[in-house]
This record gives sequence, C-alpha cells and structure tokens, in this order.
Amino acid sequence: MADTSLLLNRTSFGDPANAGNTLTTDEALALLHEWVPNEKLQLHMKQVGAVMKAWAMEREGLPEAEAHQWWLAGVLHDADWDLYPTEHCRRIIEELERRHIDPIVMQCIASHGPRHFGVEPQTKMDKMIYVFDELSGFIHASALIRPTKYDGMDVKSVQKKLKNLAFAAQVNRDEIADAVSRIDVPLEEIIGFVIEKQKEVG
Ligand SMILES: [Fe+2]
Repeated sequence: MADTSLLLNRTSFGDPANAGNTLTTDEALALLHEWVPNEKLQLHMKQVGAVMKAWAMEREGLPEAEAHQWWLAGVLHDADWDLYPTEHCRRIIEELERRHIDPIVMQCIASHGPRHFGVEPQTKMDKMIYVFDELSGFIHASALIRPTKYDGMDVKSVQKKLKNLAFAAQVNRDEIADAVSRIDVPLEEIIGFVIEKQKEVG
C-alpha cells in the first residue's frame, strides 16, 4: 500500500512574481552542506544537479540562467531527507518559498516522486528530475561495485542490472519505467547520458 504520509496536498508552489529568482551556486551549496550531513546523500544530490544542468544545456538548448534552475532543483531535491525525513519535500519547498525562489524550482522538486508527494510532473524539467533521480542512484550503485568505477561502464550492463531485482533492491524499477514512459527519449539514451555526466562528479 502506498505511504501517504509525504503527500504535499498542493499543486501550486511559490509566487509567479518571483520568476527568475534563484540561489547562487555558493548559496545552494551552503544550504546543502548545512542541511545534509550525510556525504553519500550530498553526492547523490550533486550528481542529480549536474545531470539536470547538462541535460538542460545540451539536450534542451537552454541558456545558462535557465539551466542553473535545473541544477538548483536537482542539487536540493533531497535537502530535507536527512534531518527531516517525515517532512521530506515539504520542508525544502517551504524554505525556498521563504527565500522567494522561482516557482519552477519548487514545482520541479515537488515532481521528483509523484507516488510519494502526489504532484504530477508537468514541464520537461519536472519530468527529467523524476527520470534522473532513481536512475542516478542506481547507476552510481552500479559504478561502486566495479573495480574501475565509471570507467568503461556500458549501457547494456546497467540494463542487465535493472532486470536483476536483487541488485540495489531499494531502487524501484516501476518508478523508473513510469518516469521514462512520460518522455520521448529511450531508456538506453538516458542511461548513457547519466553515465557520461555523472562520472565527472564522482
Ligand atoms: Fe533523490
């Protein structure tokens, strides 16, 4: 049965008058380091941020300022998971609303787990964070068990591991399939992109 304790029970975030407002890279990383003591989780968030930004620029052709909002949503999407697990998603959204950040950032963060937070991804930015979140963690887990980590890692080996439900069992394959079904890019292509971009982060 689905856990309903994290449902946000809202579908509108922030104030449209704040469009374009952001946190600088330093401000976002300061928040990340203050709220997330767990270094593994920090790395996961930085990886999702890096993949989101790279996708925005390279695949959506967005300018730097817009791609920065993709990065910001990625790098902060789990900011409250460590210290406030019972308020996961709600807490960071409220913090960013308090700081008058662009609504697209909070909308995107709220979209990273529709089954948990009850918010359906709307924009491409929303859909991509949903696609990247579980896959990013899964690909990192796959890299960690390889002697050469990301070096030489190929798409097929990741696809094979996805079918092996005993590997990284906490990663929900149904969520990955659901996320990918909402975009028009094949899973293989997404996996290849994540491998390539994520290895630059660690
Ligand atoms: Fe995440």
